[in-house]
Amino acid sequence: MSTETSALHFTVTAAARRVAPEQRKRLLADPGFGRIFTEHMVRIDWNRDRGWHDAELRGYAPLQLDPAVTVLHYAQAVFEGLKAFRQKDGGISVFRPQAHAARFRRSARRMALPELPESVFIEAIDRLMTIDGEWVPSAPEQSMYLRPFMFGSEVGLGVRPSAEVTFLLIGSPSGSYFPSGVKPVTVWLSEDFSRAAPGGTGEAKTGGNYAGGLLAQAQAAEQGCDQVVWVDSQEHRWVEEMGGMNLCFVFGSGRNARLLTPALTGTLLPGVTRDSLLQLAKDLGYAAEEGKISTGEWRTGCADGSLTEVFACGTAAVITPVGAVKSAHGSWSVSDGKPGDLTMRLRRSLVDLQRGVAPDPHGWLHPVAL
Ligand code: COI
Repeated sequence: MSTETSALHFTVTAAARRVAPEQRKRLLADPGFGRIFTEHMVRIDWNRDRGWHDAELRGYAPLQLDPAVTVLHYAQAVFEGLKAFRQKDGGISVFRPQAHAARFRRSARRMALPELPESVFIEAIDRLMTIDGEWVPSAPEQSMYLRPFMFGSEVGLGVRPSAEVTFLLIGSPSGSYFPSGVKPVTVWLSEDFSRAAPGGTGEAKTGGNYAGGLLAQAQAAEQGCDQVVWVDSQEHRWVEEMGGMNLCFVFGSGRNARLLTPALTGTLLPGVTRDSLLQLAKDLGYAAEEGKISTGEWRTGCADGSLTEVFACGTAAVITPVGAVKSAHGSWSVSDGKPGDLTMRLRRSLVDLQRGVAPDPHGWLHPVAL
């Protein structure tokens, strides 16, 4: 499969019908998460003979798909989620698009899809944000959630890598992922189901990983919990992730607080927010490391007070404190169940950097030329 191509020529066709500014303002007043979309999208086709071709920026519109298109049957698809932020000076910056482009390539490789060159991934975002920049909200907790994705679009029921692939990029002005904002969540430790196994697709951002988690999430809800926590599939005791987010644990407090996040064993999603927080915690002078934590250590750490804070992190919901844990073998709370100091400090640091309010020492912001 070709991985690198020279720059693609983009055809640009502005949407025929535009949304009136007053209506856009109304929509942006309370966008929710992933409910409204901008007026344009990017589409790029790939096939085995021509590689990536026919790049276009065009009006947002439904797709027409043959019922035998391969993705509908065998789920050969990957996606990304990243955000563009309205800056203090009115500009627009995208947070770590290079890191997302690199992960998109790795996910594609795992799912036997062609790799989209990182320069094309970023050009697609730049073009969409340039034409739909007015849709990037400015209110606190709001941003433009960008969803690049690709899928096997060959018609046919044979089980093999699709010889035709479609890449699309859409943008969704969004507020908080969880309607309750940064309120601590209660989690259910899933012992019946596994999200990922060694050698599987756990580290790829592919829809099937999320579909496979829905039943466990429903079970968590039946137990009165907001989210499911996944443990490893072999020993069923090493903590991996929460729903579609990574987890972080804080030991100790004050200047001696230490951050620990489960190491990337191949079954976890390598979160860009996770990676950013490991760095930001170090920048703030805290010890931050990747390692292992068992459900037993989580419980005893909360009981003896050495484990002081737990939070989940991801692009969509940023940082979500975990206040309490339930499992078939008992329940416990994390400290007093309120958001922890380091949790909220890291959240503030990340959000301020993303909005251009704090310095960006690692060059994570990619400004869009408007
Ligand atoms: C993200 O944090 O971007 C995620 O992956 C969650 C998403 C599937 C809504």
